[in-house]
Amino acid sequence: MEKHIVVLPGDGIGPEVTKATKGVLETVAAQFGHSFTFETHDIGGSAIDNHGTPLPEDTVAACKKADGILLGAVGGPKWDNLPGHMRPEKGLLGIRKQLGLFANLRPVKGFDSLLHASPLKPEVVGGSDLLIVRELTGGLYFGEPRERRNNGQDVVDTLAYSRHEMERIVEQAFQSAQVRRNKLTSVDKANVLESSRMWREVVEEKKSDYPEVEVEHMLVDAAAMKLVTNPGYFDVIVTENMFGDILSDEASVLTGSLGMLPSASIRQDGLGLYEPVHGSAPDIAGEDKANPLATILSAAMMLRYSFNMNVEADEIESAVHAVLNEKYHTADLKIEGGTQVSGSELAKKVSEHMSSNVTTE
Ligand code: NAD
Ligand code: IPM
Ligand code: MN
Repeated sequence: MEKHIVVLPGDGIGPEVTKATKGVLETVAAQFGHSFTFETHDIGGSAIDNHGTPLPEDTVAACKKADGILLGAVGGPKWDNLPGHMRPEKGLLGIRKQLGLFANLRPVKGFDSLLHASPLKPEVVGGSDLLIVRELTGGLYFGEPRERRNNGQDVVDTLAYSRHEMERIVEQAFQSAQVRRNKLTSVDKANVLESSRMWREVVEEKKSDYPEVEVEHMLVDAAAMKLVTNPGYFDVIVTENMFGDILSDEASVLTGSLGMLPSASIRQDGLGLYEPVHGSAPDIAGEDKANPLATILSAAMMLRYSFNMNVEADEIESAVHAVLNEKYHTADLKIEGGTQVSGSELAKKVSEHMSSNVTTE
């Protein structure tokens, strides 16, 4: 199959992890006889530097024509003092919004080989396998007005949702639960927020369409606690934009590192932007230390969701497992008796595992 992939490396470790991942995708193409073409565009801080805006029009145009989009990360101290509309993050928010990528799927699966890499007890982390379905184009991130008032003495951000926005993400979450373990936890703050009370109503209305899915509501503060005390309790979590952002970084602790968590930002017709959950990690950028596995696993999600290449996606995921089982890891992961390698070396190990399967088949 021929597929056209737009790569948005972004800032900080973004270029490192996307380059590493491109190598793995090239290995997939060679192994399975596909032709993947790549087109790179600026976003975030690098786009501000090169084009004076965090989201150039040709980046958007290229993404609209792509079969799949792979993003590294945006942001960094260099651009931290720019006004809100000119920040690198605005580029990422803009591309999600302009492409209508309302559903952000963030799977969190503990690898057996990383059981001891988490600061949590192995018996707590063991067997955790959950999916956070995060609403991605509404809520506090996009609501208007958002401004300083009264000579800078007051400030307002707006949490706004339409019923339609809630319905489509809740439907997505029910469908995700159906192909997993049929359990859905809707996370909100209905004891305080009107938006959360409407969110609960929508979940209640939709549940009769999915009778096999067991549904419950949980307040976000309690959910944050349960995620690290009994993560095995969860199957699918559905939640609004900002709660999902925060809970997913917290959930990364189950896997041992933020550098392990992939994500897919999708819409109904299959177009998707695939991005690690982590950011641009300015503290380690340019040193080839970044863990590329979150981005490599995001590419596997692209193969699965946008290209319908399930065998190929399985192949990447099992190569990642194999490399971790052999105890190769980057500096962010603590594996006793393991071999610490650079990010590019780790990605190469993943590719080598995949290619070695060709010769043994
Ligand atoms: P971060 O996720 O960049 O880093 C948090 C910590 O995790 C750092 O110590 C970092 O070194 C480590 N880390 C992250 N990814 C790693 C990887 N792949 N391998 C090894 N270690 C890794 O969050 P931050 O420091 O709060 O934010 C830095 C910048 O990134 C900010 O400008 C923020 O807005 C931006 N950001 C972007 C995205 C995105 O583009 N999707 C996501 C989150 C943060
Ligand atoms: C993420 C990031 C972004 C978000 C930022 C950089 C805008 O934290 O993808 O999780 O909050 O969505
Ligand atoms: Mn985040």
